[in-house]
Amino acid sequence: MRSMRIPSQNWRWMPAATILVFLWWLLPHAVRGQDLGTWELLMENAGIASMHTALTRFGTLVMLDRTNIGASQINLPDGKCRASNDLVLQSDCSAHSVVFDPATKTVRPLFLMTDPWCSSGQFMPDGTLMQTGGDFDGLRKIRTFVPCEPSGTCDWVESTTQELQSGRWYSTNQLLPDGRQIVIGGRSAFNLEFIPPNANGPLYFPFLNATNDDQNDNLYPYVHLLPNGNLYIFANRDSIEYDYSTDTVVRTFPQIPGEPRNYPSAGSSVILPLLATNNFSVVEVLVCGGAQYGAYLNSISQMPCSSTCGRIVVSDPNPTWVMDNMPFPRCMGDMILLPTRDVLIINGAQQGSQGWTNAVNPTFSPVLYYTYASLGYRMVALAPTTIARMYHSTANLMQDGRIFVAGSNPNQFYVFNVEYPTELKLEAFSPPYLAPSHDLQRPTVTVSPLQITYNTLFTITVAFPVPLTSELEINLVNAPYSTHSYQQGQRLVGLAVSALVQVAQASVYQVTLTAPSTPTVAPPGYYMLFAVNQAIPSKGVWVLLST
Ligand SMILES: *[C@@H]1O[C@H](CO)[C@@H](O)[C@H](O)[C@H]1NC(C)=O
Ligand SMILES: *[C@@H]1O[C@H](CO)[C@@H](O)[C@H](O)[C@H]1NC(C)=O
Repeated sequence: MRSMRIPSQNWRWMPAATILVFLWWLLPHAVRGQDLGTWELLMENAGIASMHTALTRFGTLVMLDRTNIGASQINLPDGKCRASNDLVLQSDCSAHSVVFDPATKTVRPLFLMTDPWCSSGQFMPDGTLMQTGGDFDGLRKIRTFVPCEPSGTCDWVESTTQELQSGRWYSTNQLLPDGRQIVIGGRSAFNLEFIPPNANGPLYFPFLNATNDDQNDNLYPYVHLLPNGNLYIFANRDSIEYDYSTDTVVRTFPQIPGEPRNYPSAGSSVILPLLATNNFSVVEVLVCGGAQYGAYLNSISQMPCSSTCGRIVVSDPNPTWVMDNMPFPRCMGDMILLPTRDVLIINGAQQGSQGWTNAVNPTFSPVLYYTYASLGYRMVALAPTTIARMYHSTANLMQDGRIFVAGSNPNQFYVFNVEYPTELKLEAFSPPYLAPSHDLQRPTVTVSPLQITYNTLFTITVAFPVPLTSELEINLVNAPYSTHSYQQGQRLVGLAVSALVQVAQASVYQVTLTAPSTPTVAPPGYYMLFAVNQAIPSKGVWVLLST
């Protein structure tokens, strides 16, 4: 459409923008309304199959596999090798972590000393990625990655002075309002701890013992920081509100109907957008997918995955789960908060559970979950990929609104000649809002300075191809640690627009906003700021939120 030529003689009297809007309106609804998104192959061979992925504020994506897997398909630089007691290799000259630059579609190998397999992580307020635990020699490790420009040489640093208080394998991290990180649970670790550590840690956490079963359905618990400062914690089918400052369970929520939802049953969860328009007082949690109890213990039977989502208003005094049906069953789906406040459910399988060779029948089609649509009208199936993304795959929102998809390795080692091979391809999914037919609604944002302070006004500039005709939304979205079908720490905060002034040029506006009120609403750190016009987002601009 952008290549269409307008005969200037006849149309000169009309402002160009009006003509373009008119032409857009002329397009059939099939083109405008039913765009189902597009898939794009970013890289044929990233060298590793990523099971943990995080977007940095430089737009690059850090990926980690495990070390204990034999040689990957990318070597460490300068002939560097690592001596280890790994299952496969005693001297390993290949990389098990890489950083991908979407601008050049290249990866740079990173160096891991010990095994981060099934680990957890979170960005700290200064933008450092902190990654904790793993398996074997990595069980108690704390590693940091200080992101750099794509041309830089930043790498993993493994602490030699500080260890975790408990071994952590399949645990969940959450950044706290005071900048500490809480690390919860893991295999045989029904406890929690803080980084930096509490002197009396780790703290026994009875909720994890109570939610354990023969499949260990309490692993990778879903942890959401509530605006009142407490944590919402979900494991298996149960959930609580937990005050970590006093180590007290404040409330117990009703059990979700249906299947177990955490690892190895493999649902996913998000805390839905927190909005300034209601003073962050309405807090909702969404949990989608999972697998029948027994799907993991009897993996040979490939039981169908769950086809339900449950949504609960955590801020209600007596909330209940409102259940909804997905277009098809899904386990190992990733749930991504989109810049538009909707949710994308992507990746996974329709039968089985997590674990090696435990699933079949991949869910190739993502589902768009319209957060604010009426029950029964919330979910739409989108365009399918052709690449299975099952166990040990990841999904992350990118700065331009695409979804970065990596990994999938339902095999113990790198295996390629099987039905569901180790997957080294990188893909991006463009949701329907990125369709060229929406370019006339797409805002462009400029933010200066890039640092914002709690509960304080700041002004940004938003430009449109055509004058604004509807309400504008401004959303902050952070970068989670994506692993095992769950985006640790993921958060979206909708800001209050307190003034919108049209400046000299017709379609340029100065928008005055209030930064999030408190660090319990949005913990300090880097967020992508998106302007959204008629459900079409701008590109994200990284801002640093601090006190
Ligand atoms: C853990 O739970 C089991 C029952 O599920 C119970 O028998 C045991 O006492 C609990 N352990 C602790 C330390 O609370
Ligand atoms: C918003 O919520 C906070 C915390 O509950 C409260 O202190 C504040 O007064 C509220 N503001 C408005 C405008 O209601």
